[in-house]
Amino acid sequence: MKFGHFDDLRKEYVINTPRTPYPWINYLGNQGFFSLISNTAGGYSFYKDARLRRITRYRYNNVPLDMGGRYFYINDNGTVWNPGWSPVKTELDEYECRHGMGYTIIKGKKNGLKAEVTFFVPQNYDGEVQQVVLTNEGTEAKSFSIFSVAEWCLWDAQDDCTNFQRNFSTGRVEIEGSTIYHVTEYRDRRNHYAFYTVNDEIDGYDTDRDAFLGSIYNGWDNPETVKADKPSNSFADGWSPVASHYKKVTLAPGESKTLIYILGYAENPQDKKFAAEKPANLLTRETWVLNKEKAYAMIDKYNTPEKVAAGLEELRTTWDKLLSIFKVDTPDDKVNRMVNIWNQYQCMVTFNLSRSASYFESGIGRGMGFRDSNQDILGFVHQIPERARERLIDIASTQLSDGGCYHQYQPLTKKGNADIGGDFSDDPLWMILSVAAYIKETGDWGILDANVPFDDDPDGKHTMLEHLDVSFYHIVNNLGPHGLPLAMRADWNDCINLSCFSDTPGESFQTYTNPKFKAEGGYSKVAESAFVAALFTYTGPAYVGILEHLGKADEAAKAQAEIDKMKKNTMESAFDGDWFIRAYDANGEKMGSKECEEGKIFIEPQGFAVMSEIGKDVGADIKTLNSIDKYLNCEFGLVLNNPAYTKYYIQYGEISTYPGGYKENAGIFTHNNAWIICAEAYAGRGDKAFEYYSKIAPAFTEETSDIHKTEPYVYGQMIGGKDAKNFGQGKNSWLTGTAAWNMVAISQYILGVKPEFDGLRVDPSIPAAWDGFTATRQFRGDTYEITIKNPDHVNKGGKTLTVDGAAVDGCIVPVAGDGKTHKVEVVLG
Ligand code: BGC
Ligand code: NOJ
Repeated sequence: MKFGHFDDLRKEYVINTPRTPYPWINYLGNQGFFSLISNTAGGYSFYKDARLRRITRYRYNNVPLDMGGRYFYINDNGTVWNPGWSPVKTELDEYECRHGMGYTIIKGKKNGLKAEVTFFVPQNYDGEVQQVVLTNEGTEAKSFSIFSVAEWCLWDAQDDCTNFQRNFSTGRVEIEGSTIYHVTEYRDRRNHYAFYTVNDEIDGYDTDRDAFLGSIYNGWDNPETVKADKPSNSFADGWSPVASHYKKVTLAPGESKTLIYILGYAENPQDKKFAAEKPANLLTRETWVLNKEKAYAMIDKYNTPEKVAAGLEELRTTWDKLLSIFKVDTPDDKVNRMVNIWNQYQCMVTFNLSRSASYFESGIGRGMGFRDSNQDILGFVHQIPERARERLIDIASTQLSDGGCYHQYQPLTKKGNADIGGDFSDDPLWMILSVAAYIKETGDWGILDANVPFDDDPDGKHTMLEHLDVSFYHIVNNLGPHGLPLAMRADWNDCINLSCFSDTPGESFQTYTNPKFKAEGGYSKVAESAFVAALFTYTGPAYVGILEHLGKADEAAKAQAEIDKMKKNTMESAFDGDWFIRAYDANGEKMGSKECEEGKIFIEPQGFAVMSEIGKDVGADIKTLNSIDKYLNCEFGLVLNNPAYTKYYIQYGEISTYPGGYKENAGIFTHNNAWIICAEAYAGRGDKAFEYYSKIAPAFTEETSDIHKTEPYVYGQMIGGKDAKNFGQGKNSWLTGTAAWNMVAISQYILGVKPEFDGLRVDPSIPAAWDGFTATRQFRGDTYEITIKNPDHVNKGGKTLTVDGAAVDGCIVPVAGDGKTHKVEVVLG
């Protein structure tokens, strides 16, 4: 069952009922100011950091679920309704929500009155613009009123939802004309404020939540002021400040009125915090006056429909440009809409926000993840390489000089997060992969010389290359008894915590290590990760390639020897006959092996082992891929492990705490499904690769939205696995490494257009049924128009490759570097 449809021409998903199986959201903003907006206008806004600069309040895990946002209420002669249906939930005569590239349009119609609200964050602008167009579609004149409302968060979202003994007494506002300013703590230690304005005179307002709602026993669905059609003109003083505008409107038949609301954020320099004079119309209870110059300028920028149209146009053009860098035309519309629109869009969002703020990530728990943000770059780097470069330097600067990493950092401070700390065994490797991806995309070898400090030597002169060196050797220097990398607190799988042995509630599986390992330096020196081994052999060649390019032949040979040794160790100690084991636990026992009672096979190491060709000479790759198909493949994707754990295995950590089929315990973790898609494509099995791709790609799951529940236009982290009661049900949509990795899987492995250090590889591995496809790829200043022909209906294998008609050996298109358009043709067979 579907709850809407794709409008590919407009690059929108059109939702036709407010009763989606879960709030289906969109993200506005892609620079400093961000908003989350659901199909009923729920959500919240923040500036750069969802924890430390939260602008509007949101209640997570609320009943009903999606409460709090920016709401417009219409009181049409006693009938109260919202254009987005919620929170009042009056049945609408018509409803539609269009989520587009950085904007959302919500339309509601009731009793002949239509309200169409366009929400967007313009480019280079720290505010959300909300354009409300009210149209009287009836035959009689209509008089009605419209209320807006947004509830302020008292800046620190964590503190805001816990520290009530203080926070109920700190709220402050100012009101000037139609603009309500939120200035809590501004006088003292903050230099930032927020405002909510409308481009017209208002007939009343409210700034105190309880006054707006009329009673502490009322919810957003039942505000007294709206019902009574009478604002209380309240002035907030502590408690919960809000901003609500009241406006009376009369429309002749066919007449429209446009109101433009702006929810903005601004910072003032320390010496310009206060205004010298107090305007006569200013309502305040303070002795000081906020300097509002920045707000005035922001308001002036979007206070007419023409300016709003220009802002929207600029946003559209920005996205059209971003999405023209890589475009495909395949025989499958669903692939086209994923690749050309939604997967790339999601990659921008994950790049911006890592795992910080979604409807599953509260924005207060986690900042930017070291491994997460590095992986996000893989799917994003072609869009805005300069931003990827800046991010790489930020991330690397949180690394320690021995190659260890802080697992997370706060975007506002860009400092490693001491609460979670480090010792996640895979973290450093992802940086080799992402820096290599950046160089492959841009040819900017200069990044290796960029000055990038270490967290423990902030003033030292260090280069990005040194970061790669210490990353590589952090693995080499931390091997266990079988010569495999130590597992430490966790590897990619946060829930395999082999040094935890937790039997006490409340201990964080990720940060707690059992005191019995204290003498060993905090974690077991026996527990080893076969996953990190395979990731090392997959990633290592990029590091070797970099050293070779720099003419460091000896260092390259030395690194290559480590990779070869790791492959040998992995084959000898981690190949289980038909697949690779997952780990050795702290008792030296195999995890993810035939010998285990449960959890006999895991997905994570397999794809990277296959792509590293570990044991390929003895057929380990095909055996492994076949085992995945046999044990992990099911209707909705590949489960993470099988059989699911049914008991608590204290030696494994968090993983077996989940009921079977959820999360890391045999859930369909879409992130690592992509590694198998890549591996199948790498092994030349394009049909299998595509089968797995289409099982989890959102556009393909659209038809089963009632089962899948989360948005059909973006990936979620997890789908309930075959052991789960809710088999096929999606969770944790939007912020997941799945976005970047599936972008890599479809574009670089299946469609086979893959940047390399010395050119653009074109080496598809597609369904045999396809006749071929075309693609356009902008790459290092040139444009490549690629045509793939598949006359013999094979999966993979280039018979010929020509560039502008001239035959080229192999499958790498050399960099032309002339800024022109080049025609690339590949005939498979
Ligand atoms: C979850 C993981 C998640 C981690 C974040 C764990 O409890 O199961 O999926 O990555 O927390 O820190
Ligand atoms: C989500 C986390 O963000 C990611 O870092 C981790 O690899 C996966 N969960 C698997 O545990």
